[in-house]
Amino acid sequence: MTTISNLSVAIFLLSVVSVTQICWATLPAPAFPVPDDTLQWLVPHNIARQQTFTGEPPLVWNETVAEFARKYAQERSVDCKLVHSHVQGLGENLAMSTRDLSPTKAVEMWVGEKPDYDVVNNNCKKMCGHYTQVVWTGTRSVGCAKVRCQNGGTFIGCNYYPPGNVIGFRPF
Ligand SMILES: *[C@@H]1O[C@H](CO)[C@@H](O)[C@H](O)[C@H]1NC(C)=O
Repeated sequence: MTTISNLSVAIFLLSVVSVTQICWATLPAPAFPVPDDTLQWLVPHNIARQQTFTGEPPLVWNETVAEFARKYAQERSVDCKLVHSHVQGLGENLAMSTRDLSPTKAVEMWVGEKPDYDVVNNNCKKMCGHYTQVVWTGTRSVGCAKVRCQNGGTFIGCNYYPPGNVIGFRPF
């Protein structure tokens, strides 16, 4: 029998740093209206943005970006691997759990890196790239998706436009 540690749910996070911003190819207009569940993504993002020193403007839902996030999450549902899409022109925060994971919880974990962000020196003590993307002042819109994977896990991805974590700049 395999040994399973007390921590039955493993959760992993991955954020991406945009070194350059490259033009984003225009995707076709969304074929369906904004789903009702956008608030479960937007609310935790916008609370965190409001709670920076300077108070960042709230994000709006971006259906074009959400379509991308859904497509990529669907792709990842076969292996649930925490790997970036390498999409150009969008920021990306990912989360993966071996069990179920709610959108609110995923965003809360990203925001949980806040104590690791050193505002004075603009660097991370440990990991804070998810947090800085969430609160990045120049980012104005977000689109996210959640899928259950074939292995029973959960893959969550949020993409951001314009992208944050631009090297050499401060989040706010
Ligand atoms: C949504 O994102 C696209 C890039 O994917 C961008 O061209 C568009 O302006 C954005 N819309 C909003 C409302 O931010």
